[in-house]
Amino acid sequence: MEFSRSFVLCGVVLISCLVFAASLSDTVFYDNFDENWDGRWIVSQSSDYGGKWKYEKSEGHEDYGLLVSEPAKKYGIAADLAEEVDPKDGTVVLQYNLRLQKGLECGGAYLKYLLPQAAGWTPSDFNNESPYSIMFGPDKCGSTNKVHFIFRHKNPMSGKYIEHHLKNPPMPVNDKLSHVYTAVIYPNNTLKLLIDGEEKKTADLLSSDFEPTVIPPETIPDPEDKKPEDWDDRAKIPDPEASKPDDWDEEAPREIEDLEAEKPEGWLDDEPDEVDDVDAVKPEDWDDEEDGEWEPPKIINPKCEEAPGCGEWTRPTKKNPAYKGKWKAPFIDNPAYQGIWAPKQIPNPEYFVLEKPNLEPIAAIGIEIWTMQDGILFDNILVSHDEAVAAEYRETTWKPKFDVEKEKEAAEVKLDDSEKASAVDGIKGKVFEVLHKIAELPFLSKYKSQIDELLAKGEENATVTLSILATIPILLLTLFYSLIFGKKKKSAPVVSEEAIKKDNPVVPDDAGANKEEAVEEETQEQAGEIEGEEAPAAVRRRTRRDT
Ligand SMILES: *[C@@H]1O[C@H](CO)[C@@H](O)[C@H](O)[C@H]1NC(C)=O
Repeated sequence: MEFSRSFVLCGVVLISCLVFAASLSDTVFYDNFDENWDGRWIVSQSSDYGGKWKYEKSEGHEDYGLLVSEPAKKYGIAADLAEEVDPKDGTVVLQYNLRLQKGLECGGAYLKYLLPQAAGWTPSDFNNESPYSIMFGPDKCGSTNKVHFIFRHKNPMSGKYIEHHLKNPPMPVNDKLSHVYTAVIYPNNTLKLLIDGEEKKTADLLSSDFEPTVIPPETIPDPEDKKPEDWDDRAKIPDPEASKPDDWDEEAPREIEDLEAEKPEGWLDDEPDEVDDVDAVKPEDWDDEEDGEWEPPKIINPKCEEAPGCGEWTRPTKKNPAYKGKWKAPFIDNPAYQGIWAPKQIPNPEYFVLEKPNLEPIAAIGIEIWTMQDGILFDNILVSHDEAVAAEYRETTWKPKFDVEKEKEAAEVKLDDSEKASAVDGIKGKVFEVLHKIAELPFLSKYKSQIDELLAKGEENATVTLSILATIPILLLTLFYSLIFGKKKKSAPVVSEEAIKKDNPVVPDDAGANKEEAVEEETQEQAGEIEGEEAPAAVRRRTRRDT
């Protein structure tokens, strides 16, 4: 029994190993950084690319990766593939593990899948100009926050390379845990993006899922076509038939004197607005020779401050009811209107048709980023023709690490919660102290034994406590009523706990607090789904990328 079971187990393990080994042959490139990368990866010597790459363990694990070790630097590093990959041949899977150990506020964390060196670059001078086939991975800065997928495609008519960006890309996961990013390109032009093995986006390489589209518009506005001089694009014109009515007085002023206004009583016609300050004295160091004759400074006439006004009284003005202003003809539809001018469309000389995009070959992998945060760790970089291999690597290399990190995080949250709980216990203790004091009040003596019983129950049972806390005010109110209005009311009104909570938001409610946390988590998760838009902050990197 024992023997046969282990035998079967052995067989299963062996077969799965063999299957895995067989599919591994579809792997074009795999680096798990179990050995120092020095020698396999070449650091760019290009000026500006001074960021120091390190060989470091992932925090909390015995597993090494390729680490971005300094903030606010540009980084360049590249490794050749043993053989070139033609993404036009079958399925291509691009995958890597990424851990943002210090988070990511502003920086790239993407990979570039580079053209053969014959296209005009070398690893030692690898920089933003080095030609790539595909760029894939997270990028965040300002309002940019996306998992890029860009492919460069040569227009066969113009010979120009165009960068085609995935529209509405998924958002990267911005926490400090290990994550795995996967892009799968299928022979049917479908692109699939996965994060942690979960599908986040599918797109068609030849469709408007990409901006600009691979296939350009069939027609374009004729650059030679110019708007004719006499083109009438006025939709409305002043009515030429209309004329100014005879009684329309264009000269009538907007404002006229208010003849009904009267000079306020007590107006001081002969008082000036300002008078000499009689309290002012000539400064001792005043030199008549140099400074001229001294005059006391002026102050507001105190008599005017008391009176409604001083000096000559003038009538105020008011709006003129006869005012009409300049006459203008009303607008009518322009009978000669020709519409908004647009140049005529001509066939686009750069237009072409394709069944499949002509993806460029991949001969090397490069990381060429500019980041404000260090602590970015790359690991398990894979290029394969087999999705199953990528899935297997996720299970064996990413999942165990992620699970450990999740567990650790959960333990930390628990610790946090228990701290909160003990704080709640503290509050509860104080509440009960008060409640016990209330129970001592003479007018409650009749109910004392019941209240004590209730409080005792509450102190040992948290859920009961909540209902007690909710019930006590009701109980007290009832008691007051019965004291004030005598024995008319026989018993406390029956109020459900729900209703109490609804009406009384002050009622402590642990469950509610948890709900709030859950909602917050949910919104964060949803936020992770919201698909980013092209943003101006991308310009910083775009300028480096564009050729
Ligand atoms: C393309 O191929 C993949 C893999 O075979 C498949 O999952 C997907 O549904 C296909 N997409 C289309 C649009 O046919």
